[in-house]
Amino acid sequence: MNRLQRSLLALVFIFAVGALAAAAASADSGPRERLLMDAGWRFHLGNEWGIAQNLAKAGSGYGPASATFGDGTWRRVDLPHDWAVELPFDPKADTAHGFKALGEAFPQNSIGWYRRTFELPATDSGRRLWLEFDGAFRDCTVFVNGWFVGHHESGYSGARYDITDVANCGGKNLVAVRVDATQTEGWFYEGAGIYRHVWLVKTAPLAVAPDGVFVYSQFRDNLPEGPAEIHLQARLTNAQTEPADAAVTWEIDGPDGTVLGTATQTGRIAAATTGEVVQTTKIAAPELWSPEAPRLYRLVTTVASGGRTVDRVETEFGIRTVAFDANRGFLLNGKPYLLKGTCNHQDHAGVGAALPDRLQYFRIAKLKEMGGNAYRTSHNSPTPELLEACDRLGMLVMDENRLVGSDALHLKWLEEQVRRDRNHPSVAIWSLGNEEFTVQGIPSGGRAAATMQELVKGLDPTRPVTCNAAVGNDFTGINTVIEVRGWSYHIGKDNMDAYHAAHPQQPNVGSEQGSTVGTRGIYVDDKERGYVSAYDDHGQTWSNTAEEWLGFFDSRPWLSGGFVWTGFDYRGEPTPYGWPCINTHFGIYDTCGFPKDNYWYYQSWWVSRPVLHLLPHWNWPGKEGAEIDVRALSNCEEVELFLNGRSLGRQTLKRTETLKWKVPYAPGTLSAKGFKGGKLVAETKVETTGGPAALQLTPDRAAIDANGEDVSMIAVAVADDQGRVVPEAKNAVRFELEGPGRIIGVGNGDPSSHEPDQYLATVPVRTVQIGGWRWRKIADVYAQNLPETGVSLDDSGWDKLEVTAESGPLGLHEQGVFRTRLTVSAQDLAAPAVELSFGKIDGDGKVFVNGQLIGSAGDPRSASNFDVKTSLHPGENTIAVAIANYGPAAGVNKGVCLRMPEAPTPVEWRRSVFNGLAQIIVQSSKEAGAIKLTARSEGLPPTTILLQAKAASPRPAVP
Ligand code: GAL
Repeated sequence: MNRLQRSLLALVFIFAVGALAAAAASADSGPRERLLMDAGWRFHLGNEWGIAQNLAKAGSGYGPASATFGDGTWRRVDLPHDWAVELPFDPKADTAHGFKALGEAFPQNSIGWYRRTFELPATDSGRRLWLEFDGAFRDCTVFVNGWFVGHHESGYSGARYDITDVANCGGKNLVAVRVDATQTEGWFYEGAGIYRHVWLVKTAPLAVAPDGVFVYSQFRDNLPEGPAEIHLQARLTNAQTEPADAAVTWEIDGPDGTVLGTATQTGRIAAATTGEVVQTTKIAAPELWSPEAPRLYRLVTTVASGGRTVDRVETEFGIRTVAFDANRGFLLNGKPYLLKGTCNHQDHAGVGAALPDRLQYFRIAKLKEMGGNAYRTSHNSPTPELLEACDRLGMLVMDENRLVGSDALHLKWLEEQVRRDRNHPSVAIWSLGNEEFTVQGIPSGGRAAATMQELVKGLDPTRPVTCNAAVGNDFTGINTVIEVRGWSYHIGKDNMDAYHAAHPQQPNVGSEQGSTVGTRGIYVDDKERGYVSAYDDHGQTWSNTAEEWLGFFDSRPWLSGGFVWTGFDYRGEPTPYGWPCINTHFGIYDTCGFPKDNYWYYQSWWVSRPVLHLLPHWNWPGKEGAEIDVRALSNCEEVELFLNGRSLGRQTLKRTETLKWKVPYAPGTLSAKGFKGGKLVAETKVETTGGPAALQLTPDRAAIDANGEDVSMIAVAVADDQGRVVPEAKNAVRFELEGPGRIIGVGNGDPSSHEPDQYLATVPVRTVQIGGWRWRKIADVYAQNLPETGVSLDDSGWDKLEVTAESGPLGLHEQGVFRTRLTVSAQDLAAPAVELSFGKIDGDGKVFVNGQLIGSAGDPRSASNFDVKTSLHPGENTIAVAIANYGPAAGVNKGVCLRMPEAPTPVEWRRSVFNGLAQIIVQSSKEAGAIKLTARSEGLPPTTILLQAKAASPRPAVP
């Protein structure tokens, strides 16, 4: 029997009023293409061109914004890219952002330019073309073919530009992006550059609007019993000048891939506007999504018009219910479900904010391994792939907005975030913001939050809304309007209990808790080096140790559980110390994802299987006989400790607590046995190791897809002669890679390491100065076919001129041509790029090579660069610049040269291990084969591993 029963219950057409679109498009366009546009960008750090946007004349941006600008000597980069991670550390830089030489004090490092050319086939004419940025930090100005197409300030929300009008179908196109990371949005490392994916989307003129599919399920009383009512919405956009009749078909595929059924609906979408087509249907016996069983359905939305299919969009979704109850806490699928959450920022060792998609999966899997089931995207809209990983691996999400604000721009970003993320079953609750100290308790804060909450509820009737509030028993401002009270710390005293008693109808969530600090493998505080002991002893003045907050929450189910600050260490906020610390110590994992001891504390209380862990390590030479603080992290009822086989006593463990012993140090084996109901259920040991004797390389996945995106996360360890990781090893390690792959980052979790995370190949540029200039005034440089700019002209009678001065010889209202001849060889032209660079062209100038116009001089404040690789030929070439002067003096100034990049200088990747461990991230190319990775360290035998890059189809991409 078909489990999907058709229903005509909700038949709604909503026609939005929109501005009339300019162009009518051909009716012959096919369904959508979504092409990844990550590869093949050029990048330049620095901004010699000011704003570059020409506000006076359309399509004529300056410098890199101009379509004729040459970028051949710029660095090649693939996205995602974060240039902040490439920068050096500087004690004068911002502490909160991790001391990267970025921001107002470092203007030379704070603006970057990206450029990419792409071809569009002539058959794209008539299609609607969109350029989509999932996220760039920050303040981007985007140009296509010299046209300004948009400006987007937010470093976290996506931006989408309709480039249909300015695109050149049947030819070459250029996108240029100016990214300004001078200003910050947070108080943590935020990266810089286009750090998420870019897409080129092509649709028919009648198509599903961006993020225009919404599917959600509802059950009677929000209890998932009986059939699920499935609400289907398709927002259609019609860029034609005539209304369009559309037939929408929704096909639902079950978790096992079988087609469960289809539903249809028709609608008429007025010209140049968007409209919604809505339908409801049922799934009789839905398979519910949960972190433990992340069952996913697939919705295929097809749009037909005039007898043809014009669009097709696939959407993954899940069926489950979420709710927050004032007394029972969070409910998943109708049952109390304790949130075992972590708050996380979005950077990782080695790559900064530019995470390959696979790394999202790596991180979510780590949190699950600890027993985590919830993730707060503190404090910003996440990248879509994070939510995809959470959907597929099973992790609930508190999806957080960056800033509280009810102005039009912030509401627009919030709306886009909700529209983009609302199909993800992992998203369980929206958060309007974090610790808005200034407005939290004032009426305007309450009003702004109410406006935001109303917007969210209108877009998503299924999920609750919270806001992380750093106040105690305080029912003012935001707390008076918010659906679910978010708690940032403030446990203890009677704050929470008193609040709950006074507001018994309002549900609560521990949206941010813990914030204890510790460094992996460190057991003695060391302020000078910036290390904090990993014993859970370091709650901050505003926060609590793991044991304190978990113990408090354990007896209060109405709090719904909580989100630990933080799952992973992140760059910036190097609490409790400043320099030389460059990253935080809050993480349960370090920046690489290596666990600190608190990992076993949380695991003990977040999983049901027996857990037993001992700390510290057992290498304390010189401390023989001295008392060592030994702790057992466990969920066993009793734990017995042994030193070298001798019992040091059995202790009973109370829920959420840890066990402690003082043990006189003797090298050897410290071991423990854990008992439940008197039965031995767990054993563990730490051993005194020998010194460094071997290198180990352990990939998380030894086979990866040869799709140019997949990565293997490789743990580097320094071990003793018995293969045991040496807990205090600091050896420097060098890496070599052969085969179809590349290293994209290295890290070691050391919060005070100033070693680079990335090693960039430098590209030497050969520069040839171009002299021999002559010039002459002429009457009209605007005349057609000027012989003075052509090749066959005898200029021997013209005046000679050095063009290296600051200003030129043309006086006010004078016009003239400047010429020279340049001899190049075939070898010169074989360089990857050949760039003609003018230090400065004053006046209204046009540049000709061998009689052909190659571009306008552009902005006189800066160099004008032109790519001349195909305009020059071996032998003698003519260069001419025609200038009309409307200022005091003009000419060709500050030198002219030819610039040719040479072969990149190879780099050697290095990283020291920190307390025995480091991490290296290897990315595949699109070629299958064996990737050979070798690690070397002074005094240790080298070690090599082979990774298999398996043939795989890369995602459809812009060539
Ligand atoms: C919170 C804040 C977080 C982080 C944390 C450190 O107050 O929300 O972003 O700064 O403190 O403990």
